[in-house]
Amino acid sequence: MKPRHFLSLLDLSAEELKRLLARAGELKAMLKRGERHTPLTGKTMAMIFEKSSTRTRVSFETGMAQLGGASLFLSPRDTHLDRGEPVEDTARVMSRMVDIIVIRANSHAMVERFAAHSRVPVINALTDLNHPCQLLADIQTFIEKRGDIAGRKAAWIGDGNNVCHSWISAARLLGFQLDIATPKGYEPKAELVAAAGNRVTLHRDPKQAARGADIVVTDTWASMGQEHEKAERTTAFAGFMVDGALMKLASKDAVFMHCLPAYRGMEVAGEVIDGPQSVVWDEAENRLHAQKALLEFLLVSPAKK
Ligand code: CP
Ligand code: NVA
Repeated sequence: MKPRHFLSLLDLSAEELKRLLARAGELKAMLKRGERHTPLTGKTMAMIFEKSSTRTRVSFETGMAQLGGASLFLSPRDTHLDRGEPVEDTARVMSRMVDIIVIRANSHAMVERFAAHSRVPVINALTDLNHPCQLLADIQTFIEKRGDIAGRKAAWIGDGNNVCHSWISAARLLGFQLDIATPKGYEPKAELVAAAGNRVTLHRDPKQAARGADIVVTDTWASMGQEHEKAERTTAFAGFMVDGALMKLASKDAVFMHCLPAYRGMEVAGEVIDGPQSVVWDEAENRLHAQKALLEFLLVSPAKK
């Protein structure tokens, strides 16, 4: 039987996503109550990370430990991937030993090739195309703070990047509006926008996108691998900083989100990320709870839960 992978939010049905988010809330409450829950005892998770990470690595490793399992972290230097062993062979070998594989890769195609040859579930921990694990935590956070997200409005301000692409998937699955403001040339992929139909609207003016929003979200202007474009991007994104004036246009109880790492004075003003509307620390913490729910979803059959 083909394993169930999580390469995109769209690998889940809307129902599955909602159940997973509810479960993330339960797992969080159980942890806070000090209840031990170890359904993954005896299971091993391999993590292949081609790029840096603070949140994703720490949350996956901690989550797996809390669920009773073990994890091994592999940078490109630690395996033969960097020395030319084919991705397909690596997938065949590793998936005969471990129970689940988490990959953060430069190219989404690499993760797809890996998954196609893996006997066990593969989780996308960020690629150039998307970042579905981030959205699990983001939506969990919104629900915790403000309730159901269906019918709400989110404003994405800045680069139409991997995280933005996953917000588009979330808007499709969960039925909320997403208004995206980017400079010309930095829009999200046209086919993803088209597939979202009237759930997504593109803007040039951040003010138009932010007006009346329940969530204002942004991300770095130069993602990992784009460091050499930093100067050019800083010029292109002038006027796209989320500051107090922009937040004033959003709904009175709007929340501010950012996947982190953040660059104060660039994509977000300190007054916003460190201000009362910011939920970024809960958002970061929820990476742990949401990914525990994901690991449980992929590794524990519902009958055994
Ligand atoms: N938001 C996020 O994925 O952070 P890291 O790059 O630190 O994992
Ligand atoms: N867009 C950013 C997200 C980091 C979590 C990047 O890809 O570097």
